[in-house]
Amino acid sequence: MKRRIHNIACIGAGYVGGPTMAVIADRCPDISVTVIDLNEDRIAAWNSEALPVYEPGLDEVVRRTRGRNLRFITQREGAAAVAAADAVFISVNTPTKTQGSGAGKASDLSYVEACARYIAEHAKGHTIVIEKSTMPVRAADTIKRILATTPHGGTFDVLSNPEFLAEGTAIRDLEQPDRVLIGGETPAAVDALAEVYAHWVPDQAILRTGLWSAELSKLAANAFLAQRVSSINAISALCEVTGAQVEEVAKVLGTDTRIGPKFLKASVGYGGSCFKKDLLSLVYLCEFYGLTEPAAYWQSVQDLNEWQKRRFAQMAAAHARKHGGIVAVLGLAFKKNTNDFRESPAIDICNHLLAAGVRLRLQDERVDPAAFRATLADEAKTGFAFFTDIEDAARGAGAILILTEWDSYAGLDWVKIAAAAEPGVAIFDGRKVADQVSAKKAGLPVFVVGQGESVPS
Ligand code: UDX
Ligand code: UDX
Repeated sequence: MKRRIHNIACIGAGYVGGPTMAVIADRCPDISVTVIDLNEDRIAAWNSEALPVYEPGLDEVVRRTRGRNLRFITQREGAAAVAAADAVFISVNTPTKTQGSGAGKASDLSYVEACARYIAEHAKGHTIVIEKSTMPVRAADTIKRILATTPHGGTFDVLSNPEFLAEGTAIRDLEQPDRVLIGGETPAAVDALAEVYAHWVPDQAILRTGLWSAELSKLAANAFLAQRVSSINAISALCEVTGAQVEEVAKVLGTDTRIGPKFLKASVGYGGSCFKKDLLSLVYLCEFYGLTEPAAYWQSVQDLNEWQKRRFAQMAAAHARKHGGIVAVLGLAFKKNTNDFRESPAIDICNHLLAAGVRLRLQDERVDPAAFRATLADEAKTGFAFFTDIEDAARGAGAILILTEWDSYAGLDWVKIAAAAEPGVAIFDGRKVADQVSAKKAGLPVFVVGQGESVPS
């Protein structure tokens, strides 16, 4: 039987659910979209002028659609929206488990299970339930089992439709996706969801697979991307000791069409809410199925990332301790154009520095200081302070670290900044954004990750 989706509900108004639903509403004026979240403050923010997520282009999309065919409501008000929905997306967080079996590695599906119970309780008629959150392979089985407990005799299809958007470019990624992946067992349900995306995505970019392949593809895609960053970071360390330049090496690698040019930027390590969580989830799955060597392989990608952050922090701490013991940290977000700092390398690097007895002066143009403060393992909270102005942040610093590639850092006037800092100050550029000419004019040594012979003494 052909199914059509006229009404969509989405549980979870986070970094993924909010922007994804806004773009669906924008591109499908004939579909009514309701985003539901437990967190009432978050819903209030989605209904205000100050959206809870910063993404270039998001404000405009929400302005066009909110009150037209897009609305944000709390879970308390959500029952009718689920009852009316032909399709319900589950887009809640799936963090790493902190207790029970698989703690520290496996994904915690308790929020997903709570959503499935909520849908089972309120859905009416036939409902397509769509996994948007990243799930371990065969999570759909768990969802199906819960949906089967529905008291209303409703029927369900479960699809996997993982999101590949990257933060900072979410709207562009949603509007022009490389591909949309739909995994499912019932062709009519897969077709109905494909028809939603077909409003703006070319048919050849809509990939259809089995459920388990779709679930695994999302984990594998993030693992492959993380692996590329760890690979180039492993090479970056070798560049530093041999005098090679990682940027040149990356360029050579990238011109091989089999390798391709993207995701070859050496850095202070990857961050973000997904790579570590999904790698660990993959490691756990391998272990669960007794695949010891594959588990160790994927674990090593994460281990290399931890090492990269640690060695950067150690270099900076060693220099700062010789020059007054103060470090300015420019950039706390896990990448530019987002206010998100989940798993940001800045967190671990700051904590390594604090543990080394260094005092920190922190600056970021988007990250909320009060929220970032909570990630720092400094009980008295006296070892660090936040500044909005970069020169203020650099005052008295013996080392200035750049941890996020904000465009504003490319145009810094290093002569002015050097005047505010401690004599002997050096720049530790973890993103290769600092203007080396200006830094040279200011007499500042610059250490750039992966740039041979740049380590300041
Ligand atoms: C998403 C995916 O869901 C995750 O699996 C993927 O790996 C990364 O992207 P994200 O949108 O970034 O997560 O998460 P977050 O910004 O934390 O948003 C989740 C939202 O779900 C929160 O607003 C939270 O309040 C809400 N939520 C959580 C519910 O509404 N109900 C719940 O039961 C649990
Ligand atoms: C990632 C995936 O790209 C996306 O498809 C998935 O849906 C969610 O996870 P995101 O975490 O938002 O997206 O950002 P991404 O652009 O992938 O960057 C992740 C981290 O890797 C950042 O800290 C970034 O700075 C770092 N990175 C990326 C590098 O260090 N070097 C690179 O070459 C690329």
